[in-house]
Amino acid sequence: MQQPPKTIKLTDFEQEVCEGLNDFPKHLSSKYFYDEIGDVLFQKIMAMPTYYLTQSEYDILNNHKKEIAAMFKSNGDFDLIELGAGDGKKTKVLLQELCEQNCEFTYIPIDISKNSLKKLTASVTSELPKVKIDGFQGTYFEALKELDSRNHKRKVILFLGSNIGNLKHDQAIHFLSEIRQLMQPNDILFIGVDQKKNPQSILDAYNDKEGITSQFNKNILNRINKELQADFDLNKFMHWENYDPENGTAKSYLVSKVEQKVFLRKLDVSIHFKAWETIHTEISQKYDDDMVNWLGKEAGLKIQESFQNHSKAFKDYVFTI
Ligand SMILES: C[S@@+](CC[C@H](N)C(=O)[O-])C[C@H]1O[C@@H](n2cnc3c(N)ncnc32)[C@H](O)[C@@H]1O
Repeated sequence: MQQPPKTIKLTDFEQEVCEGLNDFPKHLSSKYFYDEIGDVLFQKIMAMPTYYLTQSEYDILNNHKKEIAAMFKSNGDFDLIELGAGDGKKTKVLLQELCEQNCEFTYIPIDISKNSLKKLTASVTSELPKVKIDGFQGTYFEALKELDSRNHKRKVILFLGSNIGNLKHDQAIHFLSEIRQLMQPNDILFIGVDQKKNPQSILDAYNDKEGITSQFNKNILNRINKELQADFDLNKFMHWENYDPENGTAKSYLVSKVEQKVFLRKLDVSIHFKAWETIHTEISQKYDDDMVNWLGKEAGLKIQESFQNHSKAFKDYVFTI
């Protein structure tokens, strides 16, 4: 395995890219899809009819906003903490309703993407001036540590868009257990979860004909080119999606179409690809009630309630301790 010189102090991004591309099989983390370009591409994905997840969850929040807002405020003031908030389009439905119900709360969106967080803060401030907003830029785990060190106000934690599906089961249980440690009896964890369904609909959601998902997937190579001065030729890789209906796991890959060598100048590392070698870039796990129950139980959380959209494609679950 080729390592950068020991004298270089690596950032998390550099370290993970180096380890992932030297591993067998190769992998990169989907959390690095999101920069200024990745954020725009993801917004385009969310607007595609084949990417049913966004509209399905939007419909749930819109149809049930009154009862959801009433549930959030039922035990007094709270911090509304959103993990991986993105553009907050769906959350704004709830923010608006919470304002209409005169709730006392501070909205704390958390996102690894500085760009997303900046845009979200600006749009909430202008569209919903009554909302107190105090964003945090960082990874989920950094955010959880930060929240633990802050005040101990009642927490309502949102984790929308089936972001949980980007974690393997053991990571999801670890993550939920960490959240569980921060929760008090009146706190709420509200999670959006994509459901198992016709496998073709799932494949179509991650494999659009316009090639936007392909551009989004390849944006991670773009980022490595820009930030680590690498020379990935994006045309020499193809986007590939795979869904296993038995275990509910959708996986995205970048496949090297030829044998090639890529040089990461900033790290002084070169990476060899065999023809048709893969880089695994994303997991998008699909669930059913039994799986969600199991995850919750493993993490010490109970399902209090759930809401689903009309076609049953998507569900939001309310967890308490
Ligand atoms: C799939 S988008 C979903 C956005 C939003 N939750 C929604 O439902 O529309 C994922 C968002 O989470 C952020 N994200 C991904 N991995 C993250 C991580 N490990 N820590 C913090 N934010 C992360 C991304 O920057 C992006 O804005």
